[in-house]
This record gives sequence, structure tokens and C-alpha cells, in this order.
Amino acid sequence: MIVQERMAVYINSLDTGNGPFLDALQRQALQDEVPIIRQDMQSFLKVLLAVHQPKKILEVGTAVGFSALLMADHTSEECQITTIEKYEKRIPAAKENFKKAGRENRITLLEGDALEIMKGLNESYDMIFMDAAKGQYIHFLPDALRLLRTGGVLVSDNVLQDGDIIESHYAVERRNRTIYKRMREYLYVLKHTDGLLTSIVPVGDGAAVTVKQKDTICL
Ligand SMILES: C[S@@+](CC[C@H](N)C(=O)[O-])C[C@H]1O[C@@H](n2cnc3c(N)ncnc32)[C@H](O)[C@@H]1O
Repeated sequence: MIVQERMAVYINSLDTGNGPFLDALQRQALQDEVPIIRQDMQSFLKVLLAVHQPKKILEVGTAVGFSALLMADHTSEECQITTIEKYEKRIPAAKENFKKAGRENRITLLEGDALEIMKGLNESYDMIFMDAAKGQYIHFLPDALRLLRTGGVLVSDNVLQDGDIIESHYAVERRNRTIYKRMREYLYVLKHTDGLLTSIVPVGDGAAVTVKQKDTICL
């Protein structure tokens, strides 16, 4: 937890939820230990959607479809969401949830590794929600920036890694060190690349919100 636990409990206590379907899906996901966006991150994302009003969203990391459905609920009917998932067990569950929620017409699930799938995409997106394997964000970035329109917003979740990000390399468990190194590099690139404007926000497990301000970004 990157914010004080009591603070997080207080903030979450003010939350009014996401309606019966998504609230039930969230409970089920937590019970099944499926990682989905945290409650305060959900609120933050809803506000970003209301401000930015995207018409085309690309999500990297569907899990069982919770955040894709949340984004569908908080965008206009004309907004199309494409979401990518590689874990075979979660794909049928996500599809079923899109069907049950009556959102099949607005959400398209692409099955496979996002690294490969993104290379084959050529459309332009108003928003990209990055919520997959943290160690791969740096590898997803070139294609994410190619696919994001100028003025578009890249939202990257879980960037502060439960606080590990500020620890010394040696204080981080050995098995997490590669992810730690790559995430620090990712955040550095987001903050230091010409044409990218980024704010790193301690919400949920840390979110980076990046606006692409130039047509061409040289990484
Ligand atoms: C944190 S979960 C996504 C949660 C979801 N966005 C939500 O909030 O409801 C991350 C998901 O990304 C998937 N994933 C990780 N690396 C991936 C990759 N390279 N390509 C596609 N999916 C990936 C995992 O299988 C996992 O289901």
C-alpha cells in the first residue's frame, strides 16, 4: 500500500460503487484472486474518462473484463474499447462478462500477447490503459505511443509497485528486481521524453498519466 492504510480506507468508504453488476464482478474477482484495478484507481479513471471523453480506447490487460466494462459505463455509446488478454483461462470469463453486461457491441477482445498484437494494430486511439505485466511496460511503450493520437492520454497502472519503486535495488526482493529496474526506466522515459507530459500519481498502486503532445516521439 503506497498511501497510509487508514487514508485509503477513508477514501474508499466515500465510494458509491459501480452498480450491481460491476460490484458483484469485483467481489468475485477479489474472491478468485484476479487482479483488477483498485477502488481509488477506479474513481480516478472515471474522472479521466469524463474529462477526456475518448471515442476509442485500447486496454492492455483485460483479466476478466472489469476495467473494460467500467470504461464502457463511463464513456458515450459511440466509444469503442479494444482490450488485449493473453491468459487463456481469463479470456472466456471476460467474454462472458461482456455478454452478460450487454457490452459485446462496444468491447472487442483481442486474444494473445499484447507485444505481438499491438505491432499488428494500425488504428489511432484517444486513450490507452496499460494494465498488464509491469515488467513489460517499457517494451509496450513504442507501439503504445505509435497508436496513441497526438493529444491522447496513456494511463499506466501499478507503476509504484507497492512502494518498492523508491527502495534501493538491494532492498527489493531478488525476484522483483528486473521489474523494479524496468519500471524505474519506464517512469524516467515518460518524464524525460520530449513531447510527453506525465504526472505520476500515488493513487491505487500508483498511476502515470501521460499526454502525447507531439506527432513524433523519439524514445
Ligand atoms: C492487472 S490484470 C488486468 C486487470 C484489468 N485491467 C481490470 O482492472 O479489470 C493484468 C492482466 O494482463 C494480462 N497480461 C499480462 N501480460 C500480458 C501480455 N503481454 N499480453 C496480454 N495480456 C497480458 C494478465 O494475464 C492479466 O490478466
